[in-house]
This record gives sequence, C-alpha cells and structure tokens, in this order.
Amino acid sequence: MPHKIILDCDPGHDDAVALLLAHGSPEIDLLAVTTVVGNQTLEKVTRNALAIARVANITGVPFAAGCDRPLVRTIENAPDIHGESGMDGPELPEPAIELDPRHAVDLIIDTVMAHEPGTVTLVPTGGLTNIALAVRKEPRIAGRVKEVVLMGGGYHVGNWSAVAEFNIKIDPEAAHIVFNEKWPLTMVGLDLTHQALATDEVANRIAAVGTKPAKFVGELLEFFGQTYKDAQGFDFPPVHDPCAVAYVIDPSVMTTRRVPLDVELTGTLTLGMTVADFRAPAPDDCTTSVAVDLDHQKFWDLVVDSLERIGEVDL
Ligand code: BDR
Ligand code: CA
Repeated sequence: MPHKIILDCDPGHDDAVALLLAHGSPEIDLLAVTTVVGNQTLEKVTRNALAIARVANITGVPFAAGCDRPLVRTIENAPDIHGESGMDGPELPEPAIELDPRHAVDLIIDTVMAHEPGTVTLVPTGGLTNIALAVRKEPRIAGRVKEVVLMGGGYHVGNWSAVAEFNIKIDPEAAHIVFNEKWPLTMVGLDLTHQALATDEVANRIAAVGTKPAKFVGELLEFFGQTYKDAQGFDFPPVHDPCAVAYVIDPSVMTTRRVPLDVELTGTLTLGMTVADFRAPAPDDCTTSVAVDLDHQKFWDLVVDSLERIGEVDL
C-alpha cells in the first residue's frame, strides 16, 4: 500500500524537487498539496506550486493556499536563496489547474479526518503555521495522523541564525505547537539535509534524463547552487525538502535517533533553535526522532528514478 501524504510546502527550489519526488514515486499516494508563506509571499509560493503541477502534469490532487503570515512574528522571506519569484531560474509555465477553494488548514483537517486513523503522514517542508493551526482547530487530527515527517530545524547547526533553521525560525510559535503534540514526529533537519548535496555528478544524472521536467529541475538546481555559493559558501547546494519525502518512501535512506525535541521561544541568541536531548536513554514516552546520516546514493537514485517515471510532459 502506498503511503498517503499531505505535502505542506513553500516552493521554493527544493520544495519543487520534493513535490516531483512525491508525484513520481509509486510508494507515495499524494493526497493534497498545501502552501504556506515562507521562501516568498503566499501568493508567489502558491503560484509556484501550481507551476510545478503543470511541469509534472499533476492532476487530480487538490492544491490549497494557507496562511499568509506567521502566528506571531513578522514575515521573513528568503529572496537571497530563492530569488524574487521564490523559484527563480527556469521559466515558470502558466498553471493549468485551479486552486481548491478551501483554506489549506481546512483541506489538511478534512483530508486527515476522511482517512482511516494512522494512515496519513504530514510532510511539512515550510514554516509550520498551517500545521499548527490545523491541530489547534481540530485537535483530533493529532491522534489520527500516522506521523509528521518535517524538513526543518537541526540539532547541531542553523542557517537563519547560528543555531536556528529557516522553517522553524520564521514561525517558532507554530513549530513549538507542532513539536509538542503527541504525534510521532521525525525532524529531518540540517544535520541530515546538508548531506543531500546536488554535486556535479547528480546534476549530470538529472540532465541525462533528458525530459522537460528534468531540465526544469536542472535549471532550479543551477540557480539554487549559485545562491547557496554566494549567500552561504556551499560548493554544492543542499537539497533539503525532498529528504523528508525520501524518508517516507524508504526509511532506510537515512538513520534516525529517538530523542526528545523542543523549540526555543525565549532565547535572545537562540530563538527558533530545535533543542535535542541526546542524554540516554530516551524516555519511554518520547515520540520524536531526528535524522542523522543520509545514504547519498540511495537518495539521489530515488529522485532520478522519480523523474524517469514522470517522463516527458507537453509544456
Ligand atoms: C528550508 O528553508 C527553505 O528555504 C527551503 O525550502 C527548506 O525548506 C531549509 O532551511
Ligand atoms: Ca521549503
């Protein structure tokens, strides 16, 4: 049985790869795609999500727009990394599908409640505003969701401050809510995603697929590689968001460790830090885990295979 997921995202170059990976993988049943302010404004990331749907010919999946600002903080976007559109680089095609009229929070709730308990995995790859509001509006989803597998945080490094990662730092109160619910939660953070580098060999493999969707990914990674070099000093870009999807497809793509996690809300230097308590043993009631080591080859095999499966698309 494929794993049912809801992808809550802010496309975003790496969010785009996450969406393509989910769509092109038979192990995944993509139930819904929801968008949230993050890499760019809600309007821009939502438009980008619909453009990706066009690029990969995703039909029959509801897409809904969610929150246009964090719960408490003022909006922070990431144009230095993702450009003015939020997905600079390739030409973005005109969307071919309409947005679902529901707010993302309601689409998430409706979707989780409409499926058997323990069958739907939430995969957030942006700030956690939508997910936090969904569980506050309908607390029963906490007991029904199979797992939350999120890209965000990091237990040994940050990227939006010395110790905080972007998705957590832009809405730390929302992250605090999500990390403290009693659902199983796996944090696929920077500790892991900084191993998911799109090296030249990876870029060549993607180019060799030779289709329009693969070319689109190649152009995304080229832009992303340059901004990561300029803004963060990376030789190759870390392609964060598809790591969370890859874990749902095949958990053996990474090692994880069960540890208590929480989100710092009051530190002047540490706001938005995801604090992992590595003291052993983890308490019996601990339901949170962190991703530790990535199998680089297996991960990129999954991405390239998904592009092969998507095949050629008429644009
Ligand atoms: C995360 O922040 C965003 O810029 C990326 O899309 C990813 O979700 C990495 O810190
Ligand atoms: Ca993202």
